[in-house]
Amino acid sequence: MPGLFITLEGPEGAGKSTQLARLAARLAGRGVPHVVTREPGGTPLGMRVREVLLDPELSIEPLPELLLYSASRAQLVREVIRPALERGKVVVCDRYADSSAAYQGFGRGLDGAFLEALTREVTGGLTPDLTVLLDLDPALGLSRVAARGQPDRLERADLGFHARVRKGFLTLAARDPERFLVLDGARDADALAEDIWRAVAERLG
Ligand code: TYD
Repeated sequence: MPGLFITLEGPEGAGKSTQLARLAARLAGRGVPHVVTREPGGTPLGMRVREVLLDPELSIEPLPELLLYSASRAQLVREVIRPALERGKVVVCDRYADSSAAYQGFGRGLDGAFLEALTREVTGGLTPDLTVLLDLDPALGLSRVAARGQPDRLERADLGFHARVRKGFLTLAARDPERFLVLDGARDADALAEDIWRAVAERLG
């Protein structure tokens, strides 16, 4: 694949949105052709699925939850990510398959091997070239999120769930140190943006 595929991951309130905007601004400033997208969402179908997934009024069992995230991802890969990479663009995606492994696997307890097999089908084996994991204590992350307003369905889950998600992300990163850049989300945003840019610039060559 000629382009470069970058994902941002992390537990709630770790500062992904801030860093995504900073990275997009750097790419734009240097005239690098790029696409910024997000999960769940990023396509008309994904936006509909996102509304369902985040609705605090809905009760969703772990398996259908995974399948809904997967539906959004399968569409996004085919409609947006793969075509952009084929055109040589940099694709920056706010969350991707590692979120399903962390939230639905480690968090909800769905089987890891099943999840891996499903992810292969959903993504057609498309794995990020670089994954930035912004790590943060879930108690701190959830307090940041609470300050923003009404929590969504996932943000309402208990602290134990969010602690498993965080540990899940760290476990995934330890398994694949080549792909992951793990950063402390409690650090200053400017310093984080510098570290992320260095890693991206290295891969851009
Ligand atoms: P969003 O508002 O995008 O959260 P954030 O700003 O933290 O990225 O909502 C996405 C929520 O969905 C978030 O709580 C993480 C969760 N999620 C999963 O549980 N599994 C997944 O596969 C993905 C992509 C997200």
